[in-house]
Amino acid sequence: MYVIMGATGNIGSKISKLLLDEGAKVKAIGRSADRLKALVDQGAEAAIGDVSDVSFLTQAFKGADALFAMIPPAYTAEDFRVYYNEIGTNIDRAIQTSGVRNVLFLSSVGAHLSEKTGPIKGLHDVERKLNQLDDVNVLFLRPTYFMENLLANIAMIKNMGINGSGIKGDTKFAMIATKDIALAAAEHLLKKDFRGKAVQELLGQRDVSMNEATQILGSKIGKPDLKYMQFSAEEEKKGMMEFGLSEDASNQMVELNQAISDGLIAVDIPRTAENTTATPIEEFADLFAHVYKTS
Ligand SMILES: NC(=O)c1ccc[n+]([C@@H]2O[C@H](COP(=O)([O-])OP(=O)(O)OC[C@H]3O[C@@H](n4cnc5c(N)ncnc54)[C@H](OP(=O)(O)O)[C@@H]3O)[C@@H](O)[C@H]2O)c1
Repeated sequence: MYVIMGATGNIGSKISKLLLDEGAKVKAIGRSADRLKALVDQGAEAAIGDVSDVSFLTQAFKGADALFAMIPPAYTAEDFRVYYNEIGTNIDRAIQTSGVRNVLFLSSVGAHLSEKTGPIKGLHDVERKLNQLDDVNVLFLRPTYFMENLLANIAMIKNMGINGSGIKGDTKFAMIATKDIALAAAEHLLKKDFRGKAVQELLGQRDVSMNEATQILGSKIGKPDLKYMQFSAEEEKKGMMEFGLSEDASNQMVELNQAISDGLIAVDIPRTAENTTATPIEEFADLFAHVYKTS
């Protein structure tokens, strides 16, 4: 049986579906029976509770042949890194107490760095913690920037007529569709092909700049002249706080976008067949256009 954290999220939902499609048993973790209903209808068992509750996690992890573990982002957290560490500690304890022996942990490119990477610093800390687990196989899956992050800009495109963020417009960096991450994760979970502690980076189909992504997305939504604008750190932080992020979460996201602009993230990893995935930004743009038109 596979236990999947964040089973209604970008990655966890797709992993759960892939495993169920293969006839595997899945226990899907989330906070809402309503949101988990689609997976339950497909045959999953629901485990409803909160990642802040270590007893709930321990109970939920029991009996798992393999666990997909992740830290749900909490954009209202007062201190983002402390929050990641708290939830990481809960996951670590629940793994030990429940006796799970195979864990795939959703981390990020850049998790080898301890500073200057915004929210990835928390994942760095959690990787270090899980690395200490005795007799537990852990695969740290380190995907790059999700293409789905661009969906958050739909309101901006509609209201301001531009696409923008703190990332430099002409910096090319690796972007990945979340379905490619889920596919890689599901394959590793089914094969259980990881031993000891291992790292697998996932860099998407190719590197893309925000200028290029904006042009491709703009064409698909009938705005071929859509422009990309790089916001200053102050503008970006103000926009995020107006959107409801805590001050620290906003600071961390600004720091991450700065790190991407400075080429700190994922630039030193050579592309290989193993870390390059299938979906190009042009294909993701179809999904983007669908969400744009229906939201
Ligand atoms: N965005 C990126 O570019 C990027 C890149 C690399 C790594 N990452 C990492 O990827 C992770 C996010 O993955 P994702 O996009 O798949 O997540 P997501 O779509 O934001 O989904 C979060 C999931 O966690 C559940 N959840 C939220 N709060 C919870 C709580 N307190 N207790 C129990 N469950 C809770 C949600 O379910 P309910 O709301 O239904 O409970 C949902 O299933 C983060 O750790 C992030 O650092 C992100």
